[in-house]
Amino acid sequence: MQDQELIDEYRRVLGLFPTGVVVVSGLSDGTPVGLTVQSFMALSLRPPMILLSVDRKSTSWPLIAATGKLAVNVMAADQGDVALTFAKSGTDKFAGIPWTPAPHTGVPLIEGCQAWIEGEVACTYDGGDHVIITVDVLTLHAGPDAQPLVFFRSAFRQLDQPSLVAG
Ligand SMILES: Cc1cc2nc3c(=O)[nH]c(=O)nc-3n(C[C@H](O)[C@H](O)[C@H](O)COP(=O)(O)O)c2cc1C
Repeated sequence: MQDQELIDEYRRVLGLFPTGVVVVSGLSDGTPVGLTVQSFMALSLRPPMILLSVDRKSTSWPLIAATGKLAVNVMAADQGDVALTFAKSGTDKFAGIPWTPAPHTGVPLIEGCQAWIEGEVACTYDGGDHVIITVDVLTLHAGPDAQPLVFFRSAFRQLDQPSLVAG
């Protein structure tokens, strides 16, 4: 396959893998910063760790990485507009976004999110044009039962099927 063909196919094929959507938030000199991320997953239970991957071109990530403290805000189905806001570089993303400080680190917890995880960066690894980040979990919380925001084939969606038992 030619390079561009492979990249186009990569986008098409990986877009068939549905994910949730999170906003990774932190503080830079007291100012809230953050970016929308879909490459988020559970990593380790003992000790509790999570994993993210962030584009090297991200302007917010270096600010968050400088402190090593972050929150993962799991977007609820009605927060597509919030996810879009945090996907635009160079804007005042937190304007009009209500948040409260996380208990251990004070990093922003976005109101209305489905769940949040507060943590500290453990390690970073090379991931091509992305950086792979492992995070030690400090504390975490699930909000009121809500539908998650789902990203599939380049669009935000909601779950609308009854659940199937998975083990
Ligand atoms: C649904 C969705 C998922 C995204 N997932 C990621 C991701 O996993 N990693 C990443 O670095 N950027 C991801 N992005 C893109 C960033 O949110 C976007 O590049 C943002 O402008 C970065 O902002 P910053 O420059 O303030 O860091 C995603 C965007 C959207 C809309």
